[in-house]
Amino acid sequence: MIKIGNTALRHGLMLAPMAGVTDLAMRKICADRGAEYAVSEMVSAKALVYEQGARAGAPTKTAALCKIDGEIPTAIQIFGSDSEFMAEAARLLSSGEYRGFCGILPAAVDINMGCPVKKVVSCGEGSALMRTPEKIYDIVSAVCRASALPVTVKLRAGWDLNSLNAPECAAAAESAGAAAVCVHARTREQFYTPGIMPEIIRLVKERVRIPVFGNGDISCAADALKMKSETGCDGFAVGRAAMGNPWIFNEISAALDGTEYVPPSAEEIAATAVEQLRRSVAEKGERQGVAEVKVTLSHYVKGLHGATRARAEIMAQSSAAAIEEALLRVLLP
Ligand SMILES: Cc1cc2nc3c(=O)[nH]c(=O)nc-3n(C[C@H](O)[C@H](O)[C@H](O)COP(=O)(O)O)c2cc1C
Repeated sequence: MIKIGNTALRHGLMLAPMAGVTDLAMRKICADRGAEYAVSEMVSAKALVYEQGARAGAPTKTAALCKIDGEIPTAIQIFGSDSEFMAEAARLLSSGEYRGFCGILPAAVDINMGCPVKKVVSCGEGSALMRTPEKIYDIVSAVCRASALPVTVKLRAGWDLNSLNAPECAAAAESAGAAAVCVHARTREQFYTPGIMPEIIRLVKERVRIPVFGNGDISCAADALKMKSETGCDGFAVGRAAMGNPWIFNEISAALDGTEYVPPSAEEIAATAVEQLRRSVAEKGERQGVAEVKVTLSHYVKGLHGATRARAEIMAQSSAAAIEEALLRVLLP
């Protein structure tokens, strides 16, 4: 059992945050298939705070990103580098005073210290925070003071191979009051390849007492068990492998329980892909809903006969009906 504040998680199976992917539809699909915890797409602390002060009635762009449905405990992830903005964003989100508040409080406020994107790191945000570990203590303590909810931190192994400082950064976050950390065991310079460095997660685990989620390249139950034995991590964060295979959470859960995992039938896979498409469209409208769910849907057909053509069709289409048709042609031949 893992605890993040008052939230208890049996196995610590987290759907890792992925901008443009882990929206409401994706989180619901994964929650129904064994994910115990989720983190939203990243939200700019500055944008959230500025929108709060904008003209009453003006629509908030961050509201959709901050909407949660209460299916499973869900943290909202903020990014930024200015402790005052970060603290104010956390205060608004955790108190329900946020003007885009959907009526359900998040389980935690998560701080992004892992985003490698140039636009983000060039502002000193995301993984760039790991270049100034002394700033981590200030930001996390300011956010913890302002937040009525637990505060968690998502880290990478470090900035580059010459600065593998995740243990130091995790210790700074813990001493500032963080309730858990999640470590993607790659550096910023590595983006998403090559393979992960599990020893970094082990060093973090040895350094802190708060729960540690291991992250990176978990694409089946065996990977999760390997991660556990190599690092001693308390929980697991699964990102890309859940795209098109949300059952991975059930699979890991069964392996940890020592029970049999029964993979989904072709009918179940087809019904799930269609459900995700429909949920996305219901939430965002056809144009945006289709555009944002396409990449994830294309993962459902991976490896199947006719997948290449179906994938191309899915990516080219803007109509939900046409995408559904292309999906079903491959998933239920
Ligand atoms: C498309 C995409 C978007 C991502 N967006 C975020 C994000 O908003 N916040 C974050 O902390 N990590 C983000 N990540 C990183 C993932 O949370 C995770 O650390 C990484 O993908 C490694 O885990 P995996 O091998 O299970 O995918 C993103 C990754 C991908 C592929």
